[in-house]
Amino acid sequence: MARRIFVAGNWKMHKGPAQADALATALKAALVDVVTVDVAVAPPSISIPAVSARLKHTGVHVAAQNLHQAVGGAFTGELAGEMLRESGCSYVIVGHSERRHVFGEDDATINAKVHAAFRAGLLPILCVGETLDQRQSGNAESVVTGQLASGLAGLAADQVASVTVAYEPVWAIGTGHTATPAQAQSMHATIREWLAGNFPAFVARQLRIQYGGSVKPHNAASLLSQPDIDGALVGGASLDAESFVSIIKAGAN
Ligand code: 13P
Repeated sequence: MARRIFVAGNWKMHKGPAQADALATALKAALVDVVTVDVAVAPPSISIPAVSARLKHTGVHVAAQNLHQAVGGAFTGELAGEMLRESGCSYVIVGHSERRHVFGEDDATINAKVHAAFRAGLLPILCVGETLDQRQSGNAESVVTGQLASGLAGLAADQVASVTVAYEPVWAIGTGHTATPAQAQSMHATIREWLAGNFPAFVARQLRIQYGGSVKPHNAASLLSQPDIDGALVGGASLDAESFVSIIKAGAN
């Protein structure tokens, strides 16, 4: 059984409630007849209620960009998964490279956040990816499989199967330097082999692997047609309804 393509838009720190509502409204209209691709948008937390209300009953999922691992407590400025779920999220991005490299999240924290997502009833989109230095020194695959091993530690196999892994090479994020379809496919195949070697066979068959890093309307079809690329995690090009919809439609073909 082929995996359904899953395209998610990470809006990062763009679009407050009014602008987010306008973008969600445009997506709602444009995606009415797109039924063969799973779609999610990840607005900034403060815009989640507006976007969730706008996209209710549309089939477009709302994702958070981050969560704290605790249920509640004295964690100034943080949000629990349960709060995000209550606000309409069904997915949460965990371990984005900006969280790892700008905010210093380590592997243990990311693993705790993956567990917290399941506790709250959210499906994690676990981001992995090597830096340019790591790729140039020949360590890309070991870095990525190491991030998978620590990020997925302690989960049951059926939980792992419901995780989305987003392979986002750090050197491709926001740079316009997209990985070639062959480079991306090769790492996705490595990820699937690693899953097959570490979990029962159904996990590698079911788990979806998104590619992220300068996905644009002009390169989406060639990336999404690769056998192990099951979707995209889109940054900049998801901020505009027309370009995001065009990427989604590339996955519908
Ligand atoms: P860009 O598509 O802007 O390169 O961002 C990718 C990304 O980080 C998505 O999470």
